Amino acid sequence: MPNAQDTIAAIAKRRGYYWPSYEIYGGLSGYITYGDLGTKLKRNIECTWRRYFTNHQNILELDAPVINPATVFEASGHLENFKEYSTECTSCGRSFRVDHLIEEKTGLETVEAMGGDAILRLLREKGIKCPQCGGALRDPVMFLTMFKTEIGATGGLTGYARPEAAQSMFINFKRGYQHAREKLPFALAQVGKVMRNEISPRRGPTRVREFTIMELELFFDPQDPNCPMLGEVVDAPIRLHTEEMEAAEENTPLKTTIGAALEQGHILTEWGAYFMGVSRLFVDHLGIPAERQRFRAHLHEERSHYSSQTYDHEVLLDSIGWLEVAGHAYRTDYDLKAHQRGSGHDMTALRDGTRFTPHVVEPSFGLDRLFLAALEISYERRDKRNIFTLPRDIAPYQVSVFPLVTKDGLTERAGQVHEAFQGAGLATFYDEGGSVGRRYARSDEAGTPLAVTVDYTTLEDDTVTVRDRDSWGQVRTPTHDLTEKLKAYLTYGIDFGDLGEPV
Ligand code: GLY
Repeated sequence: MPNAQDTIAAIAKRRGYYWPSYEIYGGLSGYITYGDLGTKLKRNIECTWRRYFTNHQNILELDAPVINPATVFEASGHLENFKEYSTECTSCGRSFRVDHLIEEKTGLETVEAMGGDAILRLLREKGIKCPQCGGALRDPVMFLTMFKTEIGATGGLTGYARPEAAQSMFINFKRGYQHAREKLPFALAQVGKVMRNEISPRRGPTRVREFTIMELELFFDPQDPNCPMLGEVVDAPIRLHTEEMEAAEENTPLKTTIGAALEQGHILTEWGAYFMGVSRLFVDHLGIPAERQRFRAHLHEERSHYSSQTYDHEVLLDSIGWLEVAGHAYRTDYDLKAHQRGSGHDMTALRDGTRFTPHVVEPSFGLDRLFLAALEISYERRDKRNIFTLPRDIAPYQVSVFPLVTKDGLTERAGQVHEAFQGAGLATFYDEGGSVGRRYARSDEAGTPLAVTVDYTTLEDDTVTVRDRDSWGQVRTPTHDLTEKLKAYLTYGIDFGDLGEPV
């Protein structure tokens, strides 16, 4: 039996969600390419993120370069810290990330959190050999997992591809502060590509070397740390694994709410709690059930150098277990102070005539992982058919349009219906190839919530059949106000049964 990830990967390749990159040159692990369905699904998830996270006037967007001069990452601490233990096989020469080798051999989780000494000890104690050829492994070295390049033709200026978008928000803090009329709190948010030179990418497309991050840095005054929007999410239920629970290897989650977790000191800041609550609602929206979500605190050793508290928002996938889709970090004043030192420029804000360095909380999402999670969790196999029951408003296409047969004027009428939908801004897919049954099956595999079929009756009374991807039920409805009804259905305004009369 292939596992869920293999099944989905095969459909994804065949249907154009995604596939391994550089296929014609033998492939290269750690890279995936998105096709038509994948690009559209990813974009719709990104749009949903914007709705949840940037829909406030004091959250400003940014679009900054990927390649940064080395000075940025010297100051931020990444050149010093963005490293992993790597080892090489003395026989076949392949490289491996040491904590991952230990996890594979022992079944332990988050070995990175145990720290350098434990990682080195476990590698030897467990007698771990090369998983490819069984050869002996060299002593581990720390490897900087950032891509390095030369800027310009003459060289001499070293650049690095950013491994997170956040640093652009910090180095542009003063511009943002000015555009926010010198008032805190405000945030800078950015969606963009980042690159990490992973040592030995594994677990398929969940660990890639180039991916899209959706990141937000919220700047606040530590003496005025209240989040006025907290009430919107205060009752949101969450499953929490606190730092203390992680240290005690307590595996049962604490079922609590955002408000209670904050009150009990499990989350250090109101802004951090607010974004964790929004995170929960956003991930719900992608079709991921509550029992498949948790927030897991990093232990000190696992935390990034800039963070005083980090909760990973994880989702449970049948194929691989818990997968981090977001990190919620309390970065304090670490980064702004680092860039003030590095650049010599002032990075402070003003309170009653006194200068101070704002504090920062950061929700940071991996778009590619959210895409994979939404795809896997929505996958259903029914009557030998593949269905992606994606949420209506993130599916790549919203409506399929078919003529029942390609004669007697049905093609032309279906073409008109398709164009009318397109003209009204619906993402529609016209298909006249093969039997209607096959076309329904293709539509289900594309995750398209609705299919509209034009038949002989349409020519008489201008009604069409609308079919539901999830129940396979059908209704009959006139075309004159169908666009408005479809829009209402696709934004969860009405139910399927409201679209017409049952067939
Ligand atoms: N900025 C979050 C991260 O680098 O993972």
